Amino acid sequence: MAYADLHQRSISDPNGFWMEQAQAIDWHTPPSKALFDENAPLYEWFSDGQVNTCWNALDRHVESGRGDQLAVIHDSPITGTQEKITYADMRDRVALLAGALQARGVTKGDRVVIYMPMVPEALVAMLACARLGAIHSVVFGGFAANELAVRIDDAQPKCVIAGSCGIEPGRVVAYKPLLDGAIDLATHKPEFCVIFQREQGPATLTEGRDHDWTAFQQGATPADCVPVAGNHPAYILYTSGTTGQPKGVIRPTAGHLVALQWTMKNIYDCDPGDVFWAASDVGWVVGHSYICYAPLIAGNTTIVFEGKPVGTPDAGTFWRVIAEHGVKSFFTAPTAFRAVKREDPRGLLVQHYDLSCLKTVYLAGERADPDTIEWAAAKLQVPVIDHWWQTETGWAIAANPVGYESLPVRIGSPAVGMPGYDIRVLDEGGHPVGPDTLGAIAIRLPLPPGTLPGLWNAEARFRKSYLEAYPGYYATGDAGYMDADGYVYIMARTDDVINVAGHRLSTGAMEEVLASHPDVGECAVIGVSDELKGQVPMGFLCLNTGTNRPHDEIVSESVRLVRDRIGPVAAFKLAVVVDRLPKTRSGKILRATMVSIADGKPFKAPATIDDPAILDEIAEAVATLGYPIG
Ligand code: COA
Ligand code: AMP
Repeated sequence: MAYADLHQRSISDPNGFWMEQAQAIDWHTPPSKALFDENAPLYEWFSDGQVNTCWNALDRHVESGRGDQLAVIHDSPITGTQEKITYADMRDRVALLAGALQARGVTKGDRVVIYMPMVPEALVAMLACARLGAIHSVVFGGFAANELAVRIDDAQPKCVIAGSCGIEPGRVVAYKPLLDGAIDLATHKPEFCVIFQREQGPATLTEGRDHDWTAFQQGATPADCVPVAGNHPAYILYTSGTTGQPKGVIRPTAGHLVALQWTMKNIYDCDPGDVFWAASDVGWVVGHSYICYAPLIAGNTTIVFEGKPVGTPDAGTFWRVIAEHGVKSFFTAPTAFRAVKREDPRGLLVQHYDLSCLKTVYLAGERADPDTIEWAAAKLQVPVIDHWWQTETGWAIAANPVGYESLPVRIGSPAVGMPGYDIRVLDEGGHPVGPDTLGAIAIRLPLPPGTLPGLWNAEARFRKSYLEAYPGYYATGDAGYMDADGYVYIMARTDDVINVAGHRLSTGAMEEVLASHPDVGECAVIGVSDELKGQVPMGFLCLNTGTNRPHDEIVSESVRLVRDRIGPVAAFKLAVVVDRLPKTRSGKILRATMVSIADGKPFKAPATIDDPAILDEIAEAVATLGYPIG
């Protein structure tokens, strides 16, 4: 069947289509049907099945004779170490940690926060939760204590599993003081913590609360897999919204298993035994789906890479890993390729390695600029596939289903809707627009299996953020258009979310932090174009009347404040003091106009602008920061 027909079938017969896909998963009790639409517009999938994620990711492969195959390869150029773990070994490690957690009272439905660097133990911790039906919430290491505290208060974990430190080029980032700070700040106190000690930065343990990872598991009885209902939350992953309060995206267990299993062959062209590598971090959705879960569910070997695209030790590190471990499909963010291209524009380092194993490269996380795609395709001599998705969906909304039918690549487009995603472009009134016409990108409900059924502790916010703008649709928050053949083009976000080096961040959250500076009366943060990171945040500060401290002092304090409260990952380094912000007569800050000014793009001041002269002041202010560039 042609892919277009397969897609059509997934939309017209969701029950039939997804029940067929569900056969690739081992069920404790198979579901009676796929779609549960009794509470529309809230939908669930496979709710009455009983299943365990860890069984499907590990045990079933051991049972079927893949025990000696490598499940995980840890490659850490930053520490100069490598470790190879078979499926049998991984299953044993996970069962032991799960047993120790169970002995300490962690059971189905309990939350566990995981705050770990890119070490295999991060996957062991995630899968140990899955084995017990405990709900993990992984927090990215580049977030500050305050962000960790917000997540602890929302998820209310019984315990936290953390690494003692992460390692960034040139510095060891001690995680334990950040964890201690977060627990101090949080109202909810976890019962206990398990700390994985790394020799590069061992931590002092808090007596009575913290346990050493190894000692904690000594003598524990390995735990069996606990079956859970299909709609049981597998994990919560917090992501940026418009405010400082992140959204806790819920991932449902069974839909996650079924959808991810489908993607590994049909999108990523990987069969059991193939080596798959997603160069991301377990703290992001890409890391959840494609470093941990999907490759293991499908019986592949996954690579846990602790390093950067450049500087660990050079811009050839990606090629070395691909060649050394025989990677067939490689997934990264465009920003990583831009970093490599900047250091090695002619791709000379590519020639040092035999990359004959590599068949396809996949890009996601931000808009893939045509230059980057063309550069990578020319240097690597393989198809470079852009695909579009979000934390909320957990897997690609639009992609090129290379393993099913390789569709022609149209540069600038992440191709076509994946099964179950009925993508539409809507005008402001919610009416579908014709081909090649810009609009809000929405997906007709229901979303397919694996996507979010809701937000943790926040159903009203879920409805308001995603379901109310266009009744009957899920609003993606992205704008763009679709061509006559159904290829989508993602152009911009419609909200205050920006994308910095493939990391999703909220300008609203940064504004909340800046507004807390005692000298700042009002502020605005926008995302401006950046050659390497795609976008970077830029802050505009209006000071309280009577403040006469030097502006550069206030600017550097503000930069520090965002780093301390949100974390280094925010990459907030550009800020400037201005007298006033441009606004409409009703007081709405004209952020889009400010972005055009900073990017040097033509713009038309809105008719409702309060005082057009302010735009000249903004242009002068961005010029002091070196913008527009070039
Ligand atoms: N723990 C602690 N700090 C971290 C961290 C972590 N896990 N990850 C990043 N940081 C820090 C960095 O050290 C840096 O701090 P600095 O301001 O002191 O330099 C800051 O957060 C920003 O980090 P990063 O976004 O990695 O920028 P960079 O300038 O160090 O590197 C790139 C630029 C392009 C090489 C890098 O961003 C990259 O590899 N991006 C790919 C992103 C990706 O894979 N995204 C996943 C979506 S698919
Ligand atoms: P995250 O939830 O961190 O995965 O970020 C999701 C957002 O990143 C999307 O809503 C888009 O704005 C952007 N994004 C992800 N992939 C792509 C892509 N291939 N092209 C354009 N934008 C993308």
